[in-house]
Amino acid sequence: MSKIFENLHNHGSSEPFDLALEAAAVIAEKTGVASHDIALTLGSGWAKAADLMGETVASVPAASIPGFLPPAVEGHVASIRSILLPNGKHALVLGARTHYYEGHGVRRVVHGVRTAAATGVKTMILTNGAGGIRETIKPGSPVLISDHINLTADSPLEGATFVDLTDLYSHRLRELARTVDSTLEDGVYVQFRGPHYETPAEVQMAKVMGGHVVGMSTALEAIAARQVGMEVLGLSLVTNLAAGIQKTPLSHQEVIDAGREAEGRISALLAQIVTKL
Ligand code: HPA
Repeated sequence: MSKIFENLHNHGSSEPFDLALEAAAVIAEKTGVASHDIALTLGSGWAKAADLMGETVASVPAASIPGFLPPAVEGHVASIRSILLPNGKHALVLGARTHYYEGHGVRRVVHGVRTAAATGVKTMILTNGAGGIRETIKPGSPVLISDHINLTADSPLEGATFVDLTDLYSHRLRELARTVDSTLEDGVYVQFRGPHYETPAEVQMAKVMGGHVVGMSTALEAIAARQVGMEVLGLSLVTNLAAGIQKTPLSHQEVIDAGREAEGRISALLAQIVTKL
């Protein structure tokens, strides 16, 4: 096992980390970029950021990289791109997220994050589309994730691996994001398993627990990122008000449409944040 994952030796199986190293080697070979500095997982509404951040050096079908599955959701892009930023840093854009609700297990869900770490990444940016609980957050607004509540009852950590999650969503990176847009609000992200949307009662529970946005990704990925020592920036696009907060039924099409509508604006914001890292 390489130095990156050395400190994880005693905890659980080395298999997922070996697979991540294998994937990283293939990415280095296919992109011609030996190591990356920043990685981004682009969820609903965030995909255009990849075009705005810098010069695409290489784009590789995700399914050609060890351990990556084709995306299960229409509207998600299944490529892995290496982008050269104006400041000379290399960003890796993971366009293929495997969701927990797909049922392939947590190892698959966090494989992209572990692969990013294996390519040398120190800063992991996780983005998603989410339902808004807090009334002041309007659909179409981005939210800086300040913390999460993981309601999947699962973890990417195996064995007796006790990882500290204080300041999981880096305060430093949130402040840096606010130098680009001072109006960005913090919010607590609640990950449900999905793929069904929440019931209004579940949304009320999440609200009472201290949640501000609800979604079906990110928390497990953030934990895996912290396990390997990466600094995490999390961003949600509120695509809809959560069930019961909005009085009309939720639809996947609504989420896609809201993502498209806000995409230009929030992708430009993200591209600007990335150049500051
Ligand atoms: N709930 C869960 N996931 C989501 C939502 C939601 O309301 N909107 C977009 N992703």
